Parts: sequence; structure tokens; C-alpha cells
Amino acid sequence: MKIIETGAAAHAHAFSRPRQRPSILVPTMGALHRGHEELIRVARHHAGENGEVAVSIFVNPLQFEPGSDFEKYPRPALEDEKICRATGVNLLFRPLASEMYHGDQSVCVDETALSSALCGASRPGHFRGVCTVVAKLFNLLAPDAAVFGEKDYQQLAIVRRMTRDLNFKIEIIGVPTVREADGLAFSSRNQYLNTDERAQATLLRRAALAGQQLAEAGETSAEKLIAAAKQVLAAGKSTRIDYVNLVDSETLQPLTVLRPNALFALAVFIGRTRLIDNLRLA
Ligand code: PAF
Repeated sequence: MKIIETGAAAHAHAFSRPRQRPSILVPTMGALHRGHEELIRVARHHAGENGEVAVSIFVNPLQFEPGSDFEKYPRPALEDEKICRATGVNLLFRPLASEMYHGDQSVCVDETALSSALCGASRPGHFRGVCTVVAKLFNLLAPDAAVFGEKDYQQLAIVRRMTRDLNFKIEIIGVPTVREADGLAFSSRNQYLNTDERAQATLLRRAALAGQQLAEAGETSAEKLIAAAKQVLAAGKSTRIDYVNLVDSETLQPLTVLRPNALFALAVFIGRTRLIDNLRLA
């Protein structure tokens, strides 16, 4: 596995790669878990045996809003490197922040429609940070495709829109969420949870399933579906709802009535840890 830590070396590598050798990028912030391993597996499937699977690990300061968990975000560099080797990654790109951002950087990538809802509403500037760093990774590594998890559904939709609108010739591949046996979606932030909070974290999936169950019983009022989910979440003594919403899965705009392509999306604090999940309802 080749490890690259500077932007110049990333450029040199990307632009000396034979064009017929596909490169599939898995952008991450590290603290790799089974969800990331699935992204790497899908990347390998698309790259083929002789193609390149590239993983980037960069805890991107620009996507953390003030007062959030940037400082304490886990950075287990050695374990991450081990996982990359064990999963057959060909290239690990792990730059320092000084390699990615000039102190006086004044250009960012702003998506202005899909970012206004859901996490974008509660985390101002978050998706500007995501779009900016993903655009930089695309420019530095010039992949043929990039793989993103559907757990971060809004991020995936925004990256697709950015790729389209800025004419990146890169295929964006979405990968279904990987879950623990009890339904909790894998997330690097799960490791913040203590035992008691970890038990309550299963409420996110249970809340979404409660909404789905009611929908399957014929209920179409978004208000009622959301209320059913909120009732499940209320059972947790450390849960605080950021949002529970029913939205159109393409525009991410709220729906009042269930219709095809609806997405149930939720963000919930368990103690001090904010977790997200989603479920396609129809
Ligand atoms: O999903 C993530 O881990 C990050 O938001 C990403 C896409 C790597 C950008 O920093």
C-alpha cells in the first residue's frame, strides 16, 4: 500500500497513473469501522482486481462548526492504516491540514439548495466544508469514481449535485448503511457513547421503523408518522431530538403527506453525541 501525505505527491501520483487503470476513491475522516470496510469493498468491486482503491483520511476542520467535536474526533492512525492494508487498499492519502488549506484560503464550494434542510439547518457551514474538501480531494486524486455511505444521505445527495454542477467527470456511488445486529448504524461517533447511551442509540432505528410501520398500515400524514417516531425516541432518558423529518429524497424538502420516494430522516443527541439515520419509506 502506498501512503501519500502531501498534495504535491497526490497530484504526481494521480497524473502518472495509467488512464486505463481505474481509481476509486473512498473519502473518510478515519476512525474506520465496518461501514467504511463496506465502502472499500464496493470500491474494489468497481475498481476490479487491477484497479486502484484509494482511501483518504482527513479530519476536515472546515466541516466542524464552532464548539463541535473537531478536537476530540478520534484519530487512530495506526489502526486505520492496518485496516486499509487488511482490506487491500492500494493508496492511502492522509494529508496534514496545512497541506489541504492555505491559511488565507478564500474560495469555498457552496451548495445552496439541498444544504438548507436537515443537518444543514442545524449545522451551518457544515456542507460548505464537506463540498470544499471533497472538491479538493477530487482535484488532487482525480478518481474515476468515489464511494459514499447512504447513512449520510444528505451528504451523498449534495456531493452528487456538486459533481453534476461543477462538471467533475467522476461517478458517485452510494452504498447502503451497514448496521450492528441491533440496528444501530455504524458511525465513528458511536465510540463516544457510554454503555447506557449505547443502549439508547438503538432508538434511532426503532423510531424510523415505527414510522415505517405506521406508513405500511396506511397512514400518510407526515405529522403522524413523525409523531410516532418521536414517541419512540422519548423513551430514552438521554435523548434530545435535533430533527425528525419526512422529506422528498431528491429535493430534501419536507413533505406533509407521504408519497413515493419519501425519506424519513432523523438526527438525535444521545447525551452529548449527535447521531443521524434515515430510512426510505416508499
Ligand atoms: O463522511 C465523511 O467522512 C466526511 O464528511 C467526508 C466525506 C470524508 C468529507 O470530509
